[in-house]
Amino acid sequence: MEKKQVLQCVVLFVCISASWIRVESLGNGLGLTPQMGWNSWNHFGCNINEKLIRQTADALVSSGLANVGYKYINIDDCWANYNRDKWGNLHGNDATFPSGIKALADYVHSKGLKFGIYSSAGTRTCSGRMPGSLGYEKQDAKTFASWGVDYLKYDNCNTDGSAEKQRFPVMTQALRASGRNIFYSMCEWGYQEPAKWGAEVGNSWRTTTDIKDTWSSMLFNIDINDGYAKYARPGGWNDPDMLEVGNGGMSYNEYVAHFSLWAISKAPLIIGCDVINLNKEAHSILANKEVIAINQDSLGVQANKVKKYGDLEVWAGPLSGGRKVVLLLNRGNQGTKLITFNWADVGNPPNSAATLRDVWLHYTYKKTIRHKLTVKVAPHSCRLFVLQPV
Ligand code: GLA
Repeated sequence: MEKKQVLQCVVLFVCISASWIRVESLGNGLGLTPQMGWNSWNHFGCNINEKLIRQTADALVSSGLANVGYKYINIDDCWANYNRDKWGNLHGNDATFPSGIKALADYVHSKGLKFGIYSSAGTRTCSGRMPGSLGYEKQDAKTFASWGVDYLKYDNCNTDGSAEKQRFPVMTQALRASGRNIFYSMCEWGYQEPAKWGAEVGNSWRTTTDIKDTWSSMLFNIDINDGYAKYARPGGWNDPDMLEVGNGGMSYNEYVAHFSLWAISKAPLIIGCDVINLNKEAHSILANKEVIAINQDSLGVQANKVKKYGDLEVWAGPLSGGRKVVLLLNRGNQGTKLITFNWADVGNPPNSAATLRDVWLHYTYKKTIRHKLTVKVAPHSCRLFVLQPV
């Protein structure tokens, strides 16, 4: 073989193995759009039991939320006994989950939903009330698979101090070997910038510390998350933490902005409130199909902040079919303000025309628009539009 041919062979081999590694690195086919569901932590913390989880599954279905896409029922921390059994297995807490986790998973599945569970890449979870999976990754993944678990949220407390980059992939391998295809939601709070390596390890990765039910915490998290927009993609999403909509700490307009920002950022839409006692206002936000469709758009590109002047911001990104999503945000707490976006801000070709749909008012403007648009935005509020080229 000539030198040139040898070189060509080497290049070909490297390319083939690189693409093989890329596909095989996680390649579980899950999370092609951001995950949607419910999680117990934001509202209930450790006050959870099997009755609550069953009733939540019922409510997710009867409220119509399951129908618009919320499919996962995820139990967070505090579901297990304090210690492993003598064989080293995890067990549902005898007092609060007496029927066992498999029975609960079966119930959730019987409602047409998927079931998620929680552990930590440490010796104990963050509450300290149950063991973590460090050193037991294979065994726990097998247990989860045998129960019919569809989703694992994996936290970062009580670790051995080793790097997240090393510790989290151990669970990737364990899940892969478990015999069940399990969505892997990594929660290392952005410590090692998992956006930069997470796609090969998990299906989503937290980019921030825990959200609180306040306007400033919500904005704090989404701003950090915005810095990683380019890394989001089908199969691997930035996670600015779960939703607070419905928990009562923010106003209606603030929750609309929270939900809109999460939707356009292709963030997981994991409800964090009490859906058994969901109020009408929260329901109307969480069940807005047009906003959900932006989040679940097949293109899977995270929108980001394209312009900022003081408290006023323009966020934009592409959607399938040449459409654009544009969000105008007034972060200030005084006075309705005018916010303008230009075609160049949102990547529209000069002189092109578009129709404008307000997805909260469910209203399409009569006139097509060109060049730019100026709209009024109330304090602590946003406006959210889909632009369709004509
Ligand atoms: C961490 C996570 C939270 C939650 C708690 C449970 O703080 O970031 O989302 O899971 O642990 O203890």
